[in-house]
Amino acid sequence: MARVAIVTGGTRGIGEAISLALKDRGHTVVANYGGNEEKAKAFTEATGIPAYKWDVGDHEATLAGCARVAEEVGPVDIVVNNAGITRDGVLHKMSFDDWNEVMRINLGGCFNMAKACFPGMRERGWGRVVNIGSINGQAGQYGQVNYAAAKSGIHGFTKALAQEGAKYGVTVNAIAPGYIDTDMVAAVPAPVLEKIVAKIPVGRLGHAYEIARGVAFLCSENAAFVTGSTMSINGGQHMY
Ligand code: CAA
Repeated sequence: MARVAIVTGGTRGIGEAISLALKDRGHTVVANYGGNEEKAKAFTEATGIPAYKWDVGDHEATLAGCARVAEEVGPVDIVVNNAGITRDGVLHKMSFDDWNEVMRINLGGCFNMAKACFPGMRERGWGRVVNIGSINGQAGQYGQVNYAAAKSGIHGFTKALAQEGAKYGVTVNAIAPGYIDTDMVAAVPAPVLEKIVAKIPVGRLGHAYEIARGVAFLCSENAAFVTGSTMSINGGQHMY
């Protein structure tokens, strides 16, 4: 059955692949984006998927953005919380702003989107929330106390909200991607990235579509009995 889906950060990287995968499965997809106008415009032109701009870390803006989607497109049944940023740096060099922005957007964004969309799913008796966590939220990563804390928080958030949604037909799951060939990973200094890739048993970075296919499964009717779970898609880098 076709559903209305919002993918946050849905015009670039892993989010773009998720938007396309959900569209391929017949859903009506809206891609949220935070700032890159040029890419959002090109994405909509290429895919026909509308792009709506708001900052998922901003509570009021998220409530307003989701209300606009519901009015213009329809009640939202699927939310994929993919939007995220990095502000890497070792703790002794990390500013409070670097900490706060990553928590506000990566973890706060999940709360804000759930506040906007979860109550409607609960009332209608069907919903899917998929949160994009990270291998670095499971295992930690040098230079990422902010990002690892936010992503680890996403895994806890997922398990808690799953318990609230279960009896209303709303599943809440997480995917923990490893290192995927996106702009975010390309920003890791080359010598550091080489060392990381050397530790991936599959021997390469992942592709965005490999994450998107996992998301599409979790959003499907077939996944009705899967809730509160974390699907690790990381080439065997961390078996958890
Ligand atoms: N373990 C132990 N020591 C480490 C280390 C590690 N993993 N990485 C670096 N170090 C050490 C270095 O050997 C160096 O030691 P010496 O001073 O004794 O030589 C010291 O730490 C400083 O290293 P850098 O020169 O790299 O320090 P920096 O301040 O210039 O940069 C950093 C630090 C920004 C954290 C940089 O190392 C970095 O970018 N690391 C990659 C972080 C990372 O993996 N980010 C993931 C981004 S992608 C993503 O997050 C998506 C996802 O979900 C997977």
